Order: sequence, then C-alpha cells, then structure tokens
Amino acid sequence: MIRRYTFGEVFETGAVTEQVDEGRALPYFTVRADAAGTRFTCPLGEGDAVYGLGETMRGIDKRGGRYVSFNTDNMRHEDDMPSLYGAHNFCIVAGARTFGAFFDTPARAVFEADYGGSGVLSVVCERAVAVYIVEGECAEDVARQFLRAIGRSYIPPLWAFGFGQSRWGYKNERDIRRVADRYAAAGMPLDYICLDIDYMRGYADFTVDARRFPDMAGLVGEMRARGIRLVPIVDAGIKIEAGDAAYEEGVRRGYFCKNKEGEDFRAAVWPGMTHFPDFFQAEARAWFGGLYKFYTDLGFEGFWNDMNEPAIFYSEYTAGKRGDRSGGDPLYRGGAFLEDYRNFTHRAGGRTVNHWNVHNLYGGLMTRASAEGLDKLLGGRYLLFSRASYIGAHRYGGIWTGDNSSSWLMLRRNVTMMPGLNMCGFLFSGADTGGFVGNASRELLLRWLAFSVFTPLLRNHSCKLTRRQECYRFRGKRDFRSLLALRYRLLPYIYSEFMKAALSADLYIRPLAFGYPADARARKIEDELLVGDSLLVAPVLEKGARGRTVYLPAPMTQVRWTGERFETSPLSAGEHFVEVPLGQAVFFIREGKLLPVGRGGMCTAEVDLAAVELLGDGTEYAQYIDDGVTRDVSLQNVRILRR
Ligand code: GLC
Repeated sequence: MIRRYTFGEVFETGAVTEQVDEGRALPYFTVRADAAGTRFTCPLGEGDAVYGLGETMRGIDKRGGRYVSFNTDNMRHEDDMPSLYGAHNFCIVAGARTFGAFFDTPARAVFEADYGGSGVLSVVCERAVAVYIVEGECAEDVARQFLRAIGRSYIPPLWAFGFGQSRWGYKNERDIRRVADRYAAAGMPLDYICLDIDYMRGYADFTVDARRFPDMAGLVGEMRARGIRLVPIVDAGIKIEAGDAAYEEGVRRGYFCKNKEGEDFRAAVWPGMTHFPDFFQAEARAWFGGLYKFYTDLGFEGFWNDMNEPAIFYSEYTAGKRGDRSGGDPLYRGGAFLEDYRNFTHRAGGRTVNHWNVHNLYGGLMTRASAEGLDKLLGGRYLLFSRASYIGAHRYGGIWTGDNSSSWLMLRRNVTMMPGLNMCGFLFSGADTGGFVGNASRELLLRWLAFSVFTPLLRNHSCKLTRRQECYRFRGKRDFRSLLALRYRLLPYIYSEFMKAALSADLYIRPLAFGYPADARARKIEDELLVGDSLLVAPVLEKGARGRTVYLPAPMTQVRWTGERFETSPLSAGEHFVEVPLGQAVFFIREGKLLPVGRGGMCTAEVDLAAVELLGDGTEYAQYIDDGVTRDVSLQNVRILRR
C-alpha cells in the first residue's frame, strides 16, 4: 500500500505514475521545519537495515552513511563522497518493521542513516516534498510496489545486452576499425563501440568532424554489417558558435536556460562556452529530441547522454569569486561551482523556476527528451543511457555510474550499487568495467568482467591518458575470451530475466537478504547478489585472491565456467571456500531453479535465444524470448521450458 503526504507546494517531478491516495498523518517519521528545510526523523532499531538510495557510495545497507542528493560531476568516488550523478531518494527500512519511503523533491535532500551512530534515519529536504510511504510484507514486496508505482523500466534492444567497448580517446575512423578488427582477431565478441567526444567538430553536439570521420554513415553501415553498432556520446550543453544550427535555433526559439538578467546562460563544458537546453520546457524537449535525427539519419541506434548534471567547468558569473580556481580559464575543469546552479532559471508550466530548486531533474529530463525524440525517429528500440538521473528517468533510458576508477574498491561498489539502483527503477545500468580513471591491471579487469557479465549494461570504458584497457591489449587473451564468451552464453537467461523484471515491475538484481529474509547471516552479506530468479553471484573482489569464501543460505548447484564448458556440482548450504582462477567464473543456481545457457556467438545477432540447455535441479523455467527489437513487448512472450 502506498500513501502520499505533501509538505509545502511541491514541484511535480513525474516520478510516480500510479494514482496514489493522499494520507493524513505521516507514519514512522517525526517532522520538524528548521533553517535547513523540512527534517524527517525516524528511529532505527538495532537490527534495521536501510536499503536503496540508488547511485550512492558505501554498502548495500546504507547504515552509517551520509548521502546528499544533488547531482554532481565528480570522479572522486570514495566512501565519504556524499553525491554522485543521480538523485535516487527512495529507501527501505527493513527490520522489526519494514517500509519504504520516497522523498520526491527535485531540490537538494540529505539522508543520514544512523550517521555517527545517531540511531535515526534523518532526511532533510531543502524545498517542498511529496513523501510516499510504501508498506508491504517484506523488503522485496515494498520494492516491487514502488517499482509498480514509478512505471515500467526502459527496455533496450537485445544488442544492448552485448559487450561494448569504449574509450575517451578514439579519435578517428581508423581507431574505430582497429578496435573492431582486434576484437575479431582475438576471437572476442563485441556488439558496440562508443564514440566519445572526439567524433564531434569542436565537441559540438549534432556534428561530425569530417576530417576524422569523412564518411560516418559509411562507417556505421560497415560496422553494422559486421554486427557492431556505433554509439555516439551527446553532451547537455550546446556549443555557442555562429553557424551552428542547434545553437542558432535554440537561441531564436528561446529554448535555453536564462541567467538572472533574462539572457541565455553561459557555462563552459568540453566545447568551451555553451548554452544549456531548458529541458523543463516541453517544446524545448521536443526540439532537442528531434535533433537526434542528425544521428538516426547516419544510421545510429544507440546513444549515451553525458555532462547532464549539468556539469560546469567554468562560468563568468562565478569567475574570480570564492571557490573559483580557474584563474579565468574557460576550459578549466574544476567541477561545477555550486553557486552557478543558482545563476540560471527554467520555464516550467508557465513559471520561472530557479535551477537550484529543481537541479536533480535536469539530467533525467534530457534523457526523456532524447527518448521521446527517438521514439518518433526510430521504428524499433534503441540503446540510451545517461550519466545524471532522477527516479522517473528510468522509464526513458538506463544509466552508467560515471567516472569511477580502476580500483578494487570501485569493483566492490559496482556490486553494492546494483541492488539500490534496481530498487530505484534503474534496471538497465552498469559501471565502467575496468574503471575509468587510473590504470587497470589485468587481474582487476578480469575479476571485474567476471562480475559485469551479470549486469545488463556491460561496457569497458576508460579515460584518456590511462593505460589502454581493451581486452585484447592484455596478455593471456584466453582468459578475456572466456569471460566475454560467458556473457554471450548467459544471454538467454540475462535477457529473459531482465525482460520479466521490467515487464512485471520486479528487480533484476537483489540483495541476498531479499531472497532469504529469515536468514540472519544472509541479511549481513554485501558481496553476494541474487541475479534474476535463479542465480546467486559471488564475485572475487580482492587482489591476489585464489578464490573466496561464499555463504550459501540454502543448498545450490555450483556452476564453474571453465572457458569451454559449464561444470556443475551440488553444494550444501553454509560456508565454502571456492577456488576461482582468473578467467573462470563460479556462480550458483538456487535450489529448485533452472538456468538456461545458450551456445554463444561473436555478437548478439549470432546468439540463438531459443537454443538452450538447462542447468540446475529445478523442473521448469519461464523463458522470455522475442526478436529483441519490437516495441510491443509483453509477458505473452514467455515460454515454459521443462527439464
Ligand atoms: C565525462 C564522462 C566520461 C567521458 C568524458 C569525455 O567525464 O563521464 O565517460 O569519457 O566525459 O567525454
């Protein structure tokens, strides 16, 4: 059951799509208004866990931490970092009493979960907020009710579940061909290559640098014939440049955010000075979405939206003011100066609103604009994922978790973030596998792949000037081949479980605690996950480890992927040390469940979703299967496989 309680004059975010009744008195929390905003306080019992909060640092259980919902471009992902790129204000308190709470506000909100041992969950919302309280039988039931209330997840095409290679630094068509050639030569599957900002002319959206890519449409077609899609990046800011069609049209029609004087707001991002499209205006959204025609005409079917917090490197409004370390350099990349978010406005529903008060919605509205444009431009599904997001944007696209680094902590955080993202609707998500900043070791990339092969978005991405991170760059290619092949062998399961979750408002990845709520030990586990209905995944997360200790709450079938075949053996409940050589993967099929595995392929087009073998001790598996393109998806596409 869900009830809504409003505090102040709320800005409707569109996050909740289901009709929800207004409640009378907010349960669980005491409410007090103070200088910081409205403060909601709920006592936590000793054994209560706090789940959710999507893209945040620390563990699956959020207890002990402080999290600030204020979308931020920041690559220092450490456990004390309060804000990342998304604002996902839904959490679940599970213990003596279990309920969910969604603080639906586009402005800044601060969550403290037993922070400093306070014994309370405290949420401070700077502006008006609609609080949704979700009550259910258990944490999983609460999560499912919330997913139903916020509407169906974005549904990507089948090829988006393939492996993607990306790097900031691919600068011309030769670089792109080389990636495709070398993956093929190494016998490693590949479904897409991302184009980072260097494909553009002067980093301007909706342009192609004709010197570097003289025949982009030709290249897209050539790659497509090889089973590989090209996926360009699109940044939020529109380059200020005379003659640029998007810039000139945006100015003429009044589609850009305004400064306090009512002029188009100016801020520096990759292209230098830009204007930010005002995604709060429906007409501006329709206009921006329509601009993707430039790309769809070239044959592109997938996109990643970036810098949409929006990221600001410099602005003349804050230049020289406290906190500005740019020295007047418009290309200084010091991260956004918070002050700038007070310096521009939007037009929303006939009113002018200061950006600061609706900041967290900006990136999600960009995703919505793109998706609505692409829905019109393309006949089928498309790949779309964004960096910034708010709950509700999950209906339009997926997200990646931004500029992480090549470290073991980041791999661990990829694991702990996934269930929270799922609870907040972002089923189609994943991290930069191998890490964005810093140099990935062979061992780290292999261990990371052994986990990422289970996440819907599987992309190797890295930053300019770091060690080259393509799988073929490392010695012992067989190990990389093995793990990438595993993804394609698992595809019938991953696709089926993702689609069933999306279509039935369910989670694709869950904490162990959700599957085994009565098991006190399972409730504490932060390094094992349930992936789909059949699997328990326990990745190796430590440097130099030969394997790891796994706790099984129930007897299961152990599956070892050797690189050539799946070896299964029954394993009793309890603790086991499992050896996992690099390049292998070990995971577990739950009691009474089945895992369909396919024959694999060098790209998703080669994978026959119907040709599967069943592993595990269950009797039936409901496989979702379709052409991977069609938009009118439904649970009717499920067929029952029997052992
Ligand atoms: C941002 C993105 C990163 C991208 C870079 C250059 O840092 O998060 O993925 O490579 O910009 O476009």
